[in-house]
Amino acid sequence: MKELRKLNQYLWRHRYMLLTGTIFVAMANMLKVFNPKIVGWAVDIVYATFNAEDMNSVEGPLGIQLNVAPNAGLIILACTFIGLALISGLFTFIMRQTIIVASRRIEYDLKNDIYAQYQRLDQAFYKKNNTGDLMSRATEDVSRVRMYLGPALMYGINLFFLITFVLLSMVQIDPVLTAWVLIPLPFLSLSIYYVNDKINRGSEAIQRQLSFLTTSAQEFFSGIRVIKSYAQEEMAIDQYAKDSEEYKQRSIHLAKIESIFLPLMVLMIGLSTLLVIYIGGLRIIDGAITPGNMAEFIIYVNLLTWPVTSIGWVASIIQRAAASQKRINEFLSAEPQVSTPQEGQKPSKTGLIEFKDVSFVYPETGIQALNKVNLTIKPGERIAVIGRTGSGKSSLAELMMRMYDPKEGQITYNGVDLKDLDLHAWRQTIGYVPQDVFLFSETIEDNIQFSPGDKQNEGKMAPQIAAQHASIHEEITSFHDGYETLVGERGVTLSGGQKQRISLARALVNSPSILLLDDSLSAVDAETEARILEYLDSLDKETTAIIITHRIFSLLDFDKIIVLDQGSVIQRGNHEELYKQEGFYREIYDKQRPQ
Ligand SMILES: Nc1ncnc2c1ncn2[C@@H]1O[C@H](COP(=O)(O)OP(=O)(O)O)[C@@H](O)[C@H]1O
Ligand SMILES: [Mg+2]
Repeated sequence: MKELRKLNQYLWRHRYMLLTGTIFVAMANMLKVFNPKIVGWAVDIVYATFNAEDMNSVEGPLGIQLNVAPNAGLIILACTFIGLALISGLFTFIMRQTIIVASRRIEYDLKNDIYAQYQRLDQAFYKKNNTGDLMSRATEDVSRVRMYLGPALMYGINLFFLITFVLLSMVQIDPVLTAWVLIPLPFLSLSIYYVNDKINRGSEAIQRQLSFLTTSAQEFFSGIRVIKSYAQEEMAIDQYAKDSEEYKQRSIHLAKIESIFLPLMVLMIGLSTLLVIYIGGLRIIDGAITPGNMAEFIIYVNLLTWPVTSIGWVASIIQRAAASQKRINEFLSAEPQVSTPQEGQKPSKTGLIEFKDVSFVYPETGIQALNKVNLTIKPGERIAVIGRTGSGKSSLAELMMRMYDPKEGQITYNGVDLKDLDLHAWRQTIGYVPQDVFLFSETIEDNIQFSPGDKQNEGKMAPQIAAQHASIHEEITSFHDGYETLVGERGVTLSGGQKQRISLARALVNSPSILLLDDSLSAVDAETEARILEYLDSLDKETTAIIITHRIFSLLDFDKIIVLDQGSVIQRGNHEELYKQEGFYREIYDKQRPQ
């Protein structure tokens, strides 16, 4: 259970609330234990009254003289009983208000910590873990931990006091009878734990199957066009029916186990009550206890059943919480491989970018993406990077963005290793358009204005201007809602080229001093591409542009063209130089030149 120790800091943060809760739990239970005593007294009064030859000799509990008003004792007891129940109810209310509320607050704290860690971790982490896992950590695992912090802790404290008080009262009356009555209870506890464990496993299996069902339904929905065009509707229906059948079976299985639960409890309680009546009867005959004591005992036994039942339940909650907390702890202690230095330098506005013998291997797959790349990019240069798919172009861009750090060699900016620069400031220096465009389900304007960037940035432009430079402004204004048009599932469906240009506008909006476009014009027609390149060409002399592309024909005006192959630079130079050489560049160029 050492995993759960991590939670102590959160518990400590809410200590006053929890302490108040605990005090009220104790008081509520003290009152609860008082009730059977009242019943016991009442029984004794009735019993004594029945057997009395002379009413004057009957004395009720607490010295109440019954000959004055025979019913007075019972009425007083009944009122006390109700009064105690009310107060105890109030205390229980306060107990929930404190402990459960505290557990919700801790859940909130924990979720925020987890989310902050998600933002901190780097791309390598996200490649390793699938989305489902990531989601379940923030939702399912946290809610299991909360079950421990709230209900389990509350019932645990409750059980402790209730059992202690009940046992004390029982022993006080008759230790022998107490010993007998307690015999079946451990069995009850164990069997509940066992059944409960089975129920938990069962419901987890159902949960898994349910999420599998949901995922495959989702898959079918998004792939509905493919399913229909291949006339595979029958297949989809059959598949779904099969998965549903599995879900049904698991649910029925669980229902069977659950149906044992209640009878088992009733049986065990019945056994205990039976013992009270039999052994208790003998003890009354012996004169060791009164009939009222026996009535009291029966109620105690019933009071104990619930706590004894829930010991098993609490134990299994704690066990599951510990397993979940273990996963959370592992996650919270994960360190991003790419991190910002303690006192990172701010990058200067313009500068020289140098790759020095940079090699990179993807840690997850062991694929060597870059191999001893050397590259110098002067401020204001226009660079094109070309090469076959898989030659390492995107990897080069990701290393520049510090999504990953090189395995060997270093990348410097004005002579400073990128690792020594403030990570966020460095990324803000670059306007990066990744190869796989991503737009959020928000308005087009919000998507373009996604990063607030540097407030003092004089070059910061309006989203409309950025969109004009990215040659998408006209199309946006032609939409019904213009810049307020929603993108994504709830909004318009944009073409690949439109998405790419919105993404480009997002990069341009902050007037970054370095532009890095990873195949960002691949879905844009040649004419529009030419317009965009023209704009990039017109940018001030300080702006560096690095453009990764497939299309060679538009590269004529670049200062430098780099050809990558299997992670190595195989050719470099301007168009004239490269065209003179035998090799990849001339091959591709001739192939793409309009005949
Ligand atoms: N996230 C990744 N994890 C593992 N291997 C990758 C990853 N991304 C790319 N690769 C591999 O690295 C090599 C270079 O890929 P990439 O840089 O994307 O090439 P390009 O952009 O030129 O098509 C390829 O062999 C590719 O399979
Ligand atoms: Mg690529």
